[in-house]
Amino acid sequence: MAAAWMWAEEPPRAVTPWGLPADPAASLVATTCGSCHSPYLITHHHRDRSGWEKTLVKMQANGMTPLPESFQEQVLDYLVRHQGPLERQHPVDSPWAQPAFHANPLWP
Ligand code: HEC
Repeated sequence: MAAAWMWAEEPPRAVTPWGLPADPAASLVATTCGSCHSPYLITHHHRDRSGWEKTLVKMQANGMTPLPESFQEQVLDYLVRHQGPLERQHPVDSPWAQPAFHANPLWP
C-alpha cells in the first residue's frame, strides 16, 4: 500500500544499475564521482548549478582530480538536469502543511 502511494506521488525514474538516473552522461558521472563514494550521495542532494559547482570544488579538496572543462560541463549539465532544485515541496501542497497555524483546514 505504501509503495502504491509513493508511486502515485512520484513515478519511478529510469535508473542505471548503479543507481544514477539514466542519461547518456550517467556513465561519465559514475566513473568521475563513483570512485570515492556511493552515487546515492549525489541522488540525495538537489542543488542549482552554482551549488553543484561549489560541490565539485569541494570534491577537489577531497582529492578529486580536476576535470577537463568539457567533462566538467557534461557532469554539471547532468547534475542540474537530474539533481536540480526541487520545484515542488510536497508538503506545501497539502492543506495540512502548516499544522502549527492551521491544525485542521476545515476550521475557520
Ligand atoms: C576523491 C574522492 C571523491 C570524489 C572523486 C568525489 N567525491 Fe564527493 N565526497 C568525497 C568525500 C570524502 C565526501 C565526504 C566529505 C564531504 O562532505 O566533503 C564527499 C561527499 C559528497 C557529497 C555530500 C556532501 C556535500 O557536500 O553535499 C556530495 C553531494 C558529493 N560528494 C558529490 C560528488 C560528485 C557530484 C562527484 C563527482 C563530480 C564527487 N562527489 C566525487 C570524496 C569524493
